[in-house]
Amino acid sequence: GAASKGEYRHYMLKEIFEQPRVIQAALEGRLSGNSVLIESFGPDAQALFQKTRQVHIIACGTSYHAALVARYWLERYAGVPVQVEVASEYRYRHPVVPEGSLFVTLSQSGETADTLAALRFAKTLGYVGTLAICNVPGSSLVRESDTTLMTRAGPEIGVASTKAFTTQLVALMLLTLSISKARHQQEHAGIVEALQTLAKVCEQVLVLDGQIEQLSQAFAEKHHALFLGRGAHYPIALEGALKLKEISYIHAEAYPAGELKHGPLALVDSEMPVISVAPNDDLLEKLKSNLQEVRARGGQLFVFADENVGIRSQDNIQVIELPHVHEALAPLVYTLPLQLLSYHVAVLKGTDVDQPRNLAKSVTVE
Ligand code: G6P
Repeated sequence: GAASKGEYRHYMLKEIFEQPRVIQAALEGRLSGNSVLIESFGPDAQALFQKTRQVHIIACGTSYHAALVARYWLERYAGVPVQVEVASEYRYRHPVVPEGSLFVTLSQSGETADTLAALRFAKTLGYVGTLAICNVPGSSLVRESDTTLMTRAGPEIGVASTKAFTTQLVALMLLTLSISKARHQQEHAGIVEALQTLAKVCEQVLVLDGQIEQLSQAFAEKHHALFLGRGAHYPIALEGALKLKEISYIHAEAYPAGELKHGPLALVDSEMPVISVAPNDDLLEKLKSNLQEVRARGGQLFVFADENVGIRSQDNIQVIELPHVHEALAPLVYTLPLQLLSYHVAVLKGTDVDQPRNLAKSVTVE
């Protein structure tokens, strides 16, 4: 059943491998031909999104990283300004809410105390509506929001969130497409088409598990790691670093690759592995020169790269090639190898992968 590990050694690994199936489930009945079905967000969604002039997204932890990806998507593909903030900050400041603002919460559990408190606070601030993107039907967040979209990841047992994150990204792309369609009649048929083959691409990426397990040996003795990404892959780097911290207890930081020269480059030496994701997008050439800066300082690079971009393994660079994917969906796909990497490092270190020390699956107190 859903709560058994089956053939897997840990829930986390099982949940990583469930991703192709739950990503498909998250899309089920929500697309039609080359178009998104706005009513997936409820009967009032069409009217709500037409009124939406900006979006505020509030979340914690891994869900916050999904929100950061959505900022890139909503601004680029739906043309609406977006603000993203962690719930524990938002609820204690005095946010200015411009007319036509939509309030969105993201939460796996729907019970995170700070996120719930942020929603209750937001309801007093004059938003056009509140939307919860959540994995647990009937949770407090779902009950108290005007409208909801369920992520359909199924029960997630591992404390380190995996499938809940990637299904949140699917939901956020559906939101992006829906707002774009409602406000500008723009369909983005290419993205819709790519969504339909997304589960297949994820399956191909999971085949890399053996290679990633080998790679993980280079990390087991390390005390620090640096994750780099650019654009919508900066939040993916943040999520990669969070996963490594949570379950392997290795100190990890993430930087947008362009910021390297403003500080973290001083930390780079042969003892500091640097992990980067390099999809085939218009920031690739910039990223390549950032990686060159690392190599020139003797840093050890581990790069997850699109098979078409021509980054090859050589001295101090280990490359794992990923299948080509539509640029818009690359953040989701490049999350998978980072999940597998932290998983294998944690197994090598012998930590309690599913129940890391000091952490809880759902934080229902402030
Ligand atoms: C805890 C969990 C994280 C999770 C965060 C937010 O810290 O350990 O994995 O991302 O809460 O949880 P939520 O259920 O609101 O997504």
